[in-house]
Amino acid sequence: MKTNESGISPTKDELGRMVSESDAIITYLSDKLDRDIIDQATKLRVIANYGAGFNNIDITYASQKGIWVTNTPNVLHETTADLTWAMILGAARRIVPADRYTREGKFKGWGAKIFLGGDVYGKTLGIIGCGEIGRSVARRARGFSMRVLYHQRNRLPDEEAKTLNAEFVPLDQLLRESDFITLHVPLTDETEYMIGNDEIGLMKKTAYLIHTARGKVIDDYALVAALREGRLAGAALDVYEDEPEIVEGMTELDNLMLLPHIGSASFETRDRMALLVADNVLDTFSGKTPRTLVPSYPK
Ligand code: DGY
Repeated sequence: MKTNESGISPTKDELGRMVSESDAIITYLSDKLDRDIIDQATKLRVIANYGAGFNNIDITYASQKGIWVTNTPNVLHETTADLTWAMILGAARRIVPADRYTREGKFKGWGAKIFLGGDVYGKTLGIIGCGEIGRSVARRARGFSMRVLYHQRNRLPDEEAKTLNAEFVPLDQLLRESDFITLHVPLTDETEYMIGNDEIGLMKKTAYLIHTARGKVIDDYALVAALREGRLAGAALDVYEDEPEIVEGMTELDNLMLLPHIGSASFETRDRMALLVADNVLDTFSGKTPRTLVPSYPK
């Protein structure tokens, strides 16, 4: 068994070598398994991705080569929903800049106007992508008495939408009416850059944009310009268009929270993800179909 414990993603050459020598490979979202890399496999039976998203892997090509591809659904949605809420509350109440101000010794006494933010309670939450994570975010909104709007390709079953108190609306209506907009769609041809200048232009000037999905769903340059020009109240990002690079100007914006892709980073969830990855590899070696094949794996 070969492991990479450097914390640095392998280069293309290193990844190719690992693929060519392995029966099973465990990958992160930063490991791009495209055709070139998959073609180097000589005995590879499974690509077990440590994460729910799998846009880093050419699933169709892997399946043509008879290689299983698995991910880690059902174990990380609550943790990612928790972080989404930390970002909603943190952006609205300016928690990070307020902490910085206090640490820097600038707090000289109570002031009626220091660090005013937006209310969350009773506002409208717009959820784009109402899969496992989006639904977990919606459930938490009940405690904040929010109106919940959602948009995705397919509507939720009526009963489920009712339980979540979530109303399906077209995307432009969601963008116009929401005070907080949170993204939970996978990265696909359809969702790439689905939020750009035009979409931001529809949002309220007092709205906040929260993003824990995949960087390329948002045009980061358009977002930075809108935040800089006061066309949006604030934003919180856990993912970036060209991750781990961040767009110039982002670090200067006080109304932008920047996190290093930590949506599922709790001790408990990372353990659950690791166990699921191991189970998928063991399933493969015992001749079974792995338990969590990626949903788009051709059946
Ligand atoms: C996920 O599970 O998709 C996380 O973003 C890590 O890849």
